[in-house]
Amino acid sequence: MAENDKKIVFSGVQPSGNLTIGNYLGAIKNFSRFSEEYKTFYCVVDLHAITVRQVPAELRKRTYETLALYMACGLDPQKNTLFVQSHVPQHAELGWILDCYTMFGELSRMTQFKDKSAKNAQNINAGLFTYPALMAADILLYQTDIVPVGIDQKQHLELARDVASRFNLLYSDTFKIPEGYIPQDTMKIMSLQEPTAKMSKSDPNENAIVYILDSKDDIMRKFKRAVTDSDTCVRYSEDKPGVSNLMTIYRAFSGKSFDEIEREFDGKGYGDFKMAVGEACADGLKDVREEFARLIADKSHLEAVMKAGAEEAYGYARRTMSKVRRKIGFVN
Ligand code: TRP
Repeated sequence: MAENDKKIVFSGVQPSGNLTIGNYLGAIKNFSRFSEEYKTFYCVVDLHAITVRQVPAELRKRTYETLALYMACGLDPQKNTLFVQSHVPQHAELGWILDCYTMFGELSRMTQFKDKSAKNAQNINAGLFTYPALMAADILLYQTDIVPVGIDQKQHLELARDVASRFNLLYSDTFKIPEGYIPQDTMKIMSLQEPTAKMSKSDPNENAIVYILDSKDDIMRKFKRAVTDSDTCVRYSEDKPGVSNLMTIYRAFSGKSFDEIEREFDGKGYGDFKMAVGEACADGLKDVREEFARLIADKSHLEAVMKAGAEEAYGYARRTMSKVRRKIGFVN
């Protein structure tokens, strides 16, 4: 297919904090499956990151790390446009414009805003509130067809669709209306310590979270300590949240079905099961970890990648922006 006929995929990851296996299985691992058939843009969203206070040196370091992680997770910069959001000024520009087409009431209903403002009560800034309009700008700038995200971003994606439709209705077709790609099978990885809550990178209990870049020892220790139940039977069931979560993780890394997993551990205890999950997870992440270590050591290569990515993205973003300016009535 000619490059220009390809459908567009866009997604973004914030350069804040370490990413967990929830981020990996729910989102990043799926990104590379689009590279052949689609024109793909994967962005490190540093403008979004500053909606909560960041230590400047840390933010800079994590921006490099997130890019390296994209590449370590299989995104070849020759086949995917990898870039940093603040390097393409149209994101901030369209973000402001879409603020004016997004309603206060809509933004007030966003559960992520409610959660984050509860957690950052001393810094409920306007950017935290309008975050979803900037995310809509990210997506709509590229005339995106498909947005692979975790289930937690579904509400923001719906808002982006609503804002795009509203704009199109006012000014005639301007933006493509994007579809989400939200994997059903691994969409929610739960805490290892409290399996009824989502695995979250802000959880103060380190044993609850497995990071993509954890060492094998750490991974094994965390799975060994994972909460199960007083039963001894490896079976997927709503009333067995700990075991079911481990089965979900095991299935994702081993490719085995729930039936196969139940048979594999029939008559065996939870100890064996937890070790097997740990092994599968550590094995699955080994290449990512090694690639990451190699990539992060070569900053100038990462800089070349982000520069080329920003130039490519800029070309696309500029086209949409000139259309938007004309439709709104800005003087050229
Ligand atoms: N809000 C997303 C998250 O926290 C990150 C993000 C920003 C994003 N812009 C995006 C995801 C555009 C997909 C598309 O995970």
